[in-house]
Amino acid sequence: MVCANYLASLLSLPLAALALSKTPLTLQELRKQIRPVNRAQLNQREAEVAAKYPAYNISVPIDHFHNDTFYEPHSDGFYNMRYWFDAQYHKPGGPVIVLCAGETSGVGRLPFLEKGIVAQLAQATNGIGVILEHRYYGESWPVPDLSTANMRFLTTDQAMADTAYFAQHVKFEGLEHLDLTSATTAYIAYGGSYAGAFVAFLRKLYPETFWGAISSSGVTEAIWDYWKYFEAAAVYAPTGCAETTQKLTNVVDNILLGKKGTKYVAQVKEAFGLPNVTLDADFASAISNGIYALQSYNWDPEESSDEFFLYCANVTSDKVLYPSTEPLRERVVELIEAGGWGNESETLTNRMLNYVGYVRGDTVASCTDENQDQCFGTASGEGLGEDFAAFDIGQTWRSWPYQYCTQWGYIQTGDTPEGVLPLISRTMNLEYGSSICKRAFNLSEPADVEAINKHGGFGISYPRLAIIDGEWDPWRAATPHALGLAERADTLDEPFKLIAGGVHHWDENGRFPNETTAELPPTAVAEVQKAEAHFVGKWMQEWKLEQAKRMIAASMP
Ligand SMILES: *[C@@H]1O[C@H](CO)[C@@H](O)[C@H](O)[C@H]1NC(C)=O
Ligand SMILES: *[C@@H]1O[C@H](CO)[C@@H](O)[C@H](O)[C@H]1NC(C)=O
Ligand SMILES: *[C@@H]1O[C@H](CO)[C@@H](O)[C@H](O)[C@H]1NC(C)=O
Ligand SMILES: *[C@@H]1O[C@H](CO)[C@@H](O)[C@H](O)[C@H]1NC(C)=O
Ligand SMILES: *[C@@H]1O[C@H](CO)[C@@H](O)[C@H](O)[C@H]1NC(C)=O
Ligand SMILES: *[C@@H]1O[C@H](CO)[C@@H](O)[C@H](O)[C@H]1NC(C)=O
Ligand SMILES: *[C@@H]1O[C@H](CO)[C@@H](O)[C@H](O)[C@H]1NC(C)=O
Repeated sequence: MVCANYLASLLSLPLAALALSKTPLTLQELRKQIRPVNRAQLNQREAEVAAKYPAYNISVPIDHFHNDTFYEPHSDGFYNMRYWFDAQYHKPGGPVIVLCAGETSGVGRLPFLEKGIVAQLAQATNGIGVILEHRYYGESWPVPDLSTANMRFLTTDQAMADTAYFAQHVKFEGLEHLDLTSATTAYIAYGGSYAGAFVAFLRKLYPETFWGAISSSGVTEAIWDYWKYFEAAAVYAPTGCAETTQKLTNVVDNILLGKKGTKYVAQVKEAFGLPNVTLDADFASAISNGIYALQSYNWDPEESSDEFFLYCANVTSDKVLYPSTEPLRERVVELIEAGGWGNESETLTNRMLNYVGYVRGDTVASCTDENQDQCFGTASGEGLGEDFAAFDIGQTWRSWPYQYCTQWGYIQTGDTPEGVLPLISRTMNLEYGSSICKRAFNLSEPADVEAINKHGGFGISYPRLAIIDGEWDPWRAATPHALGLAERADTLDEPFKLIAGGVHHWDENGRFPNETTAELPPTAVAEVQKAEAHFVGKWMQEWKLEQAKRMIAASMP
């Protein structure tokens, strides 16, 4: 089945979980999302959870900023923004815990309402849990189609204004007799990844509406050339994995870039089983899935993939793992020599054979198309290319690229500084990574990262804003926990916590008590979740004090 091998090993749940566990999406993932895959399996677990929570709509303005010419022509209309809630733990005075769903369908976030962080916080504080879909995702469409002109209302500012509007206006079905708006109720926002940055800004921009926020793996610094995506793998991968990947990537680069026009270019593609991938960068991209897989590692078996560690075990093995690669030995020795690492041929040959075997088995075998560009092409005009002319609402993949092309960046490249060997090929440069911006939206300028970074970037801090990150997270380099930044104090008012050995928003997932074991969730996650319940409880004490003060002030003559 097309790509089934790779996808199935990448995920224990196929596609929707992909979108859910790996946000912001990488180009690799995007490519898979665009290609049709069998969604049947996904859909079982997703449908199960969705059946437990009816979806609701709230009508919100399409355009919150009539004062800003950027959004011309303006709209006076309203659209339906989707949300779900669970009031089973609610008691009077409890908060509303809003999980901002970020750049994917809100349905994928429902497990967090069922048993993840939202359920935990609602239970701990007698709160109402909410999953709130982001405009231009899932079923929350302010426009009838996704022409580039119609994408103009997709900015982080508009989406934050939606979220504030929700808190100021919502009426929960069955609880209409209660005022549960932010006028009388504490709102606590939670978000992971893009949504983590989103809630951090939300707290700062709408402090009267949101009493507190938890930014988990919040990528608060927008970065155009995000070569540091691979920094976490470079630092934390199992022994030898990063070094071997760097050397073998350098072998490939020395051939692709340094031996253009020689027989070696065709030979290296052929060795990996990818002779018909036209563009060098597409070839380089196709052999990089293993090192990309770190982001998919989660403590929660419901959505984890071990692929990163399997890849590392492959390329650090000195034993030949795939006997079928033996006939390639001489060729590989020759390529290592041509690629400038003949001096380490003795250790690199078996490792490169294993790399080749891994790519052939894992990636190449998943392509049943005659034309490999159909499977692995991006900028070459194949694969992704043919979808660029479609603008119907079904082209949901357009939303996140639009956001990163216009505001967020995060183009993952091999552009490490001189002297630092990259973990992916230097052919995967900015031009390659951003080609989707030009092809899909006719955008050729870098993203306006300043539109995001004006909110504080790495330095963002605010009372009752918690910053939670994962030590091994590829997105850590865009968060306030980035390596090289000053350590901050971790206080109840401004919690600042790094999950040891954690990857991408690991505090978001949870298990039912009857699914909890000695190992799951791991101690580092359980402790952070306990701390979150504790500091949100503390924030609620402050809220009650504040309410009492307001009442006294209001009763004064
Ligand atoms: C919410 O709005 C969408 C789009 O306008 C509509 O298709 C859907 O039926 C609505 N759902 C509910 C529960 O009202
Ligand atoms: C538009 O109004 C909002 C407040 O509603 C303000 O924050 C923003 O700066 C204004 N934008 C412009 C371009 O004047
Ligand atoms: C590459 O293309 C040639 C010529 O079309 C075809 O015979 C061959 O099977 C292709 N190889 C792969 C691995 O797709
Ligand atoms: C090599 O990778 C493959 C594909 O993921 C995996 O099945 C296999 O177990 C790995 N080998 C080792 C030694 O880990
Ligand atoms: C082998 O050559 C590479 C590339 O020139 C160099 O970086 C590396 O240090 C050399 N290795 C040894 C063991 O000398
Ligand atoms: C693309 O952008 C260029 C430069 O801004 C402009 O001249 C051209 O008309 C645009 N093309 C389309 C199809 O929008
Ligand atoms: C575990 O607990 C959940 C929530 O209470 C419940 O829905 C589920 O059926 C239980 N599972 C088992 C196997 O008992």
